[in-house]
Amino acid sequence: MDRVVYMDHASTTPTDPEVVAVMLPWMSEQFGNPSTMYSLGLRGAKVVQNARESIAHTINADPEEIYFTSGGTEADNWAILGVADAHSKKGRHLITSTIEHHAVLESMEYLEKRGCEITRVPVDGGGLIDPEEVRRALRPDTVLVSIMYANNEIGTIEPIADIGRITREAGVLFHVDAVQAAGKLPLDVEELGVDMLSMSAHKFYGPKGVGLMYLRKRTRVTPLLHGGGQERGRRAGTTNVPGIVGMAKALELADNRMAEDAVREAALRDRLWEGLSAGIEAIHLNGDPVRRLPGNLNVRLDGIEGESMVLMLDMEGICVSSGSACTTGSLEPSHVLLAIGIPAEHAHGSLRATLGRSTTTEDVDHFIKVFPPIVDRLRQMSPIWCENCVCKQRN
Ligand SMILES: Cc1ncc(COP(=O)(O)O)c(C=O)c1O
Repeated sequence: MDRVVYMDHASTTPTDPEVVAVMLPWMSEQFGNPSTMYSLGLRGAKVVQNARESIAHTINADPEEIYFTSGGTEADNWAILGVADAHSKKGRHLITSTIEHHAVLESMEYLEKRGCEITRVPVDGGGLIDPEEVRRALRPDTVLVSIMYANNEIGTIEPIADIGRITREAGVLFHVDAVQAAGKLPLDVEELGVDMLSMSAHKFYGPKGVGLMYLRKRTRVTPLLHGGGQERGRRAGTTNVPGIVGMAKALELADNRMAEDAVREAALRDRLWEGLSAGIEAIHLNGDPVRRLPGNLNVRLDGIEGESMVLMLDMEGICVSSGSACTTGSLEPSHVLLAIGIPAEHAHGSLRATLGRSTTTEDVDHFIKVFPPIVDRLRQMSPIWCENCVCKQRN
């Protein structure tokens, strides 16, 4: 087996060779620390400033509103914990949704354990949030609304601009986790009406371990990391020059090819779904059929476990994810699938394929060919599928 079919782009993407090329000098001869006063360091400060300007331009922000972080997790934690702390005199109520990434949900739980009140607005069967639910959840003591732009599991795209209008009217800060949306959907912080926005380079063919938070001017947020005075005293830590240079290049490339990539990936994703649903019985689509990211296909199959499918597909050289998170040895069904109303026993049978730039028609057809026999084999071994068969016979 030498063929590898990578269909897990929501998990991470390969770093684009053009991105690697622009990063290399900043890891070798140009290694200086940008916080120094000599030219070797100052050259680093200059490229970081150029990266800041280029990213700000892409998302319609000012360069001073961009703060570099170690990734999406740090940006999400910072937005939530930082606002809760800086605005605690106004109130201790925050609003989020039931389908956020763990970086948001666990930051909210952390605050809840320390006396904050959290409202988690529900989603419909496709994972969509009704902006009116957010309006209804607002209270005089609400300090933050945090809602993701696109979901990492089912790809559902949320009505961020509508929610932004509501939070603006109410004078409440709005944070958006745009980690899955960046590079795939146009991001304009003014049109979206957001005050804070998180991004992570490795999701759009940039390097791992670098991301950013867009923070609207005059927004009060307590720092998460304390130490040196980097990022205008708001985010300490030696500047990751190669990572930042790479992220800016990756965003520029993604922005230039966004429309073209979206059309191609959506067509391949639809081909995959049509092929799988034609060749396999009892397979269902998870999430919104229309409002979702172009490369995302999340399905569930009756009678089998996602993990066994992932392992068997791996033996065929295909990389995909299951709908469960294996934490400390116990298999928890995905909170996102539960939130869209899928019962736990069915959520376990889910599989996510996320297509990207390298995905070809041959990759999709290979998947369509090798998957049905895997499903048959797993169902033959599955006690739950047998029960289903009995039920079917009885009906
Ligand atoms: C929606 C979302 N938010 C946040 C993160 C965390 O980003 P990072 O990997 O950069 O910490 C991810 C990563 O999977 C994500 O999908």
